[in-house]
Amino acid sequence: MDPKFWHDKWQMQQIGFHQPEINPYLQQFWSELALKPVGDIFVPLCGKSLDMCYLAELGHKVIGCELSQTAVEQFFTDNQLSYQASLLGEHQVFSANQIQLIQGDIFSLPVDVCNSIVGFYDRAALIAFPDDMRKNYAQKLAELIPVGVSGLLVTLDYDQDALNGPPFAVSPDWVEAYIAPHFEVSQLFCEDVLADNPRFVNKQVPWLNEAVYKLTRKAI
Ligand SMILES: C[S@@+](CC[C@H](N)C(=O)[O-])C[C@H]1O[C@@H](n2cnc3c(N)ncnc32)[C@H](O)[C@@H]1O
Repeated sequence: MDPKFWHDKWQMQQIGFHQPEINPYLQQFWSELALKPVGDIFVPLCGKSLDMCYLAELGHKVIGCELSQTAVEQFFTDNQLSYQASLLGEHQVFSANQIQLIQGDIFSLPVDVCNSIVGFYDRAALIAFPDDMRKNYAQKLAELIPVGVSGLLVTLDYDQDALNGPPFAVSPDWVEAYIAPHFEVSQLFCEDVLADNPRFVNKQVPWLNEAVYKLTRKAI
């Protein structure tokens, strides 16, 4: 998937994935990670998600990574936060008090950016990539997340033949095949959410499972 796809989506503000409220699974399941209340949290492919504000309000410093500069700027503008900008190699860093958004490609993000993290949160990141890129993303996530660190992963699963992604379908079997080699995986929740998703209903997708996993980076 070409980066232009995402740049165009942000340019045209076709951002149906953006949620106007804090994600309910984040609120429900974050405590399952049993993290210290302070410490850095990594949010890959963060968009302008309000979930980062929730994590900051819990006392964490948030480190997001996002391809689109438009998304990053909108995050700070929407939340009336002033920021400072600096360079980190080929990436730009936009920093406010508790939130640091690194603008650029996650695949070239230096691993030491995540040295200090105590947790991570992947909502609509893994499922944003088609299969080949998703395998590379799983590998990159494993490189970025230090051993012993836990996070939440939120996925969607459906019959991929019924609809083009994104979001792309990610099954429990896929998680087992490509995430479990690097992370301890525990499914915390899974429910059919078809009725709440008119785009999928209109395309006559027969079922749509949303799942929440706890992941903990395994020792190498
Ligand atoms: C489906 S959206 C999810 C955004 C956010 N997690 C949320 O819940 O609203 C995926 C985001 O990933 C960003 N993205 C896509 N490819 C990326 C890459 N290679 N590196 C960093 N960000 C990327 C896109 O610009 C987009 O904002």
